[in-house]
Amino acid sequence: MTNTPSLTVRQNPDIKYLGKLLGDVIRSYGGDELYRRTEYIRSTSVDRHRGLADADAIDPGLDALSLDETLAFVRGFMLFSLLANLAEDRQGVAAEEGASVVEAVQLLASEGVDKDAILALLDNALIAPVLTAHPTEVRRKSMIDHKARIAELLLMKDDGDAETTEGDDLDEAIMRQIALLWQTRPLRRERLFVTDEVQISQSYMKDVFLPVLPKLYGKWEKVLGHRLPNFLKLNSWIGGDRDGNPFVDADAMREALSRAAETVIGYYLSRVHAMGAELSISTELAEVPDEVEALADASGDDALSRKDEPYRRALSGIYARLSATHLKLCGHVPGRPSPIQAEPYDNPQQLRDELAVLAHGLRGGGAKGEKQSVFATSGALGRLIRTVELFGFHLATLDMRQNSRFHERVVAELLKEAGVADDYLAQDEARRVEILRGELANNRPLVSPWADYSEETAKELSIIRAAAEAHQKYGPEVITNYNISNGESVSDILEVYVLLMEVGLYRAPENENAAPICPVMAVPLFETVADLENAPDVITEFFAIPEMLALAKTRGHQEVMIGYSDSNKDGGYLTSTWSLFKASDALTPIFAKAGVKMQLFHGRGGAVGRGGGSAFGAIKAQPKGTVAGRIRITEQGEVIAAKYGTQAGAESNLEAMTSAVLLNSLEPDKSDQAVQADFAAAMEKISQVAFTEYRDLVYSDDAFRTFFRQMTPLTEIAKLKIGSRPASRTQSDKIEDLRAIPWVFSWAQARVMLPGWYGVGQALAAFDDKAKLKEMAQSWPFFQATLSNMEMVLAKSDMGIAARYAELVEDRDMGQKFFNRIRAGWDQTRDILLEITDQPHLLAKSPSLFNSIELRLPYIEPLNHLQIELMKRLRAGEDDPRIGEGIQLSLNAIATALRNSG
Ligand code: PGA
Repeated sequence: MTNTPSLTVRQNPDIKYLGKLLGDVIRSYGGDELYRRTEYIRSTSVDRHRGLADADAIDPGLDALSLDETLAFVRGFMLFSLLANLAEDRQGVAAEEGASVVEAVQLLASEGVDKDAILALLDNALIAPVLTAHPTEVRRKSMIDHKARIAELLLMKDDGDAETTEGDDLDEAIMRQIALLWQTRPLRRERLFVTDEVQISQSYMKDVFLPVLPKLYGKWEKVLGHRLPNFLKLNSWIGGDRDGNPFVDADAMREALSRAAETVIGYYLSRVHAMGAELSISTELAEVPDEVEALADASGDDALSRKDEPYRRALSGIYARLSATHLKLCGHVPGRPSPIQAEPYDNPQQLRDELAVLAHGLRGGGAKGEKQSVFATSGALGRLIRTVELFGFHLATLDMRQNSRFHERVVAELLKEAGVADDYLAQDEARRVEILRGELANNRPLVSPWADYSEETAKELSIIRAAAEAHQKYGPEVITNYNISNGESVSDILEVYVLLMEVGLYRAPENENAAPICPVMAVPLFETVADLENAPDVITEFFAIPEMLALAKTRGHQEVMIGYSDSNKDGGYLTSTWSLFKASDALTPIFAKAGVKMQLFHGRGGAVGRGGGSAFGAIKAQPKGTVAGRIRITEQGEVIAAKYGTQAGAESNLEAMTSAVLLNSLEPDKSDQAVQADFAAAMEKISQVAFTEYRDLVYSDDAFRTFFRQMTPLTEIAKLKIGSRPASRTQSDKIEDLRAIPWVFSWAQARVMLPGWYGVGQALAAFDDKAKLKEMAQSWPFFQATLSNMEMVLAKSDMGIAARYAELVEDRDMGQKFFNRIRAGWDQTRDILLEITDQPHLLAKSPSLFNSIELRLPYIEPLNHLQIELMKRLRAGEDDPRIGEGIQLSLNAIATALRNSG
């Protein structure tokens, strides 16, 4: 069933080692019989994939498995994939050339871009990964933690250690960890709540982001020879994104913010405590500046034993103030409270300034009489200062998000109750804008304390009030962006400002020459093909409103969010990618004319059908001028564990993102305008054909909905307890109303991966000038990235297996009709891709990815087979609960093996 039957796959030695241990665990805990059967299925599947003679004729014995054996078998294969992922991550399969800041700086230097230009860019830059709670992570955190522990143990093994630091035998310790994985329940029994999502994200914050970010800055400062501004930050949606998630309400948001404060202040307390133990500098042996002495004297620490140790005393005072801040912001004292009573900090800047006094003292205070010091700002104190600058008391800036339809209804109700407009919803866009501008011109509130608002309005108002409270409590960095899903018009943006005005966050201009003030920026999210096309007009109209232009100018930048998955579901892979490119490109001159910096926020998922693929490649391939140092990108679900699960992984991924931003923003544009225009014209034509083909398949015949629902495990996916939000916004079964995640997830499980390629083959084949396509594939980064992501998807899909899923469709003729069309499209797509990229088989030019995928395929196929059989039994009405459990396990296992779900 493989695309390339005769090629040999290079085995990664770690996979061999871990696979052998897993086999031993299965034998010890599952018994010889299970081990024997699993091993037989594994080896026959591998043989089949290697194209060994007669392998197809051998029955691997899948159908003979009992239900209990099936569950155990699926877990075994899932664990193998989990361990294979780990082994691959260790080998840095994803490492890309030029994907580090030092390489980017060198490359830029060779192109005549010096360090000053880089520093100037960074002065106005913002690079922000935005963690979302998007439900695509199928693994429980306990499984991820065991995996991380194995990675740590393997690192010790690399260093030649035979024992852990505690003295356990290393091989045994690894084996024990695998045995724990084997005995840990992979599926969640209970649904996830928003607080669980918050808690999971906090563990990444504490273990990974808090230590890694300052370390990276230190590293880059050495490369660039200068202190860097705070351009790389972490943002989050968890507890703030309520679009389609009724459980994100004011309380959930408050809880998320308070947990965040607890994590970050707890982290500072532990750092300050450790430094207190370390900085035993005595006035008898070192010169200590007056400022440090003054801080020590004001600290309230009057222990005689520390009388000559001003740094320690000052740190006691800082600890005491942090402890008081913890009480104020989190509502309780920290785990190790300070014995000293002190005033809380009003803001993180005060903490930073006190730490800076100490750093300054350390820098200047060499041995008595001798002015030299080994304490640079990059030491522990320097890193803590940077941490405070980046994470404040809020940890990660939290975005808010809601659907524009909600804002419309809420604003309509407020306007009606206040007697301003009777039927706002019936007004056209021009009139709506007029009404909203009228409201924004003065600070008069619309909300009346005596009105009896609908439940929806009351709920929306309360979360916006919670945002205003958060600003009071944690400072202006706590919430800076308000994303508007389904943003399609200027009124969608103004409505949010009207709501923010109600809680005092938006302040009307004080006079004709002044700008409004609003620390929260309303950000439209353009996410259908039509909305992306309209985006430039909407932004032009937005900037034509003087007070909005003034607001954006005062802030210096305006963000626009562009949605990858929904545009893909709407218009197919190629048209979505092309529309995103065109919209970004067309927005650039509009911002330049307005004199406002553009900040694009890329809403992309892990899977290619949701805009996934290499972030490094994707950022580098953005149209020139669209990045210019400012970018935000969503990081979702399984991508968070894969990219940021370990400090080393997080470092290299943040390096890659930063270096791609530097390269895209600063590399001289060598492209020839005429050639670019020619490529764009070709792309426009190709995209139109792809769009028509995709829309015709997915939307022209209602039967396709039934086909999709019956062929894929969509219903079973919706039951997976992997996120706090429902799989659908509404009850409708229309594809338009389905969220993009389950759409992509379902096609991936059935190995069709339709959202990652459908329509492309037909469109490319219909384009006459194949030489031009080849040229585009060779020299246009946008087209290259588009094809290379698609190639990965094609390599993971398998039409032979998909055909078996198609047989699940009750109406056989209808099922065959749609499936034949999909299969023909797949063949055509693969053939033309190989032709224009000049390759004998898929991934011929990406050997490590080829290896990685080929290694996994034999493990996925039996899982698909079992999934299909279990789905048949479930649909036939069998009610043994192990069937449902088996399907869920198989979903989990296949997603793990494919390395992305939805
Ligand atoms: P959304 O995200 O449904 O939250 O807009 C879609 C996605 O990330 O794929």
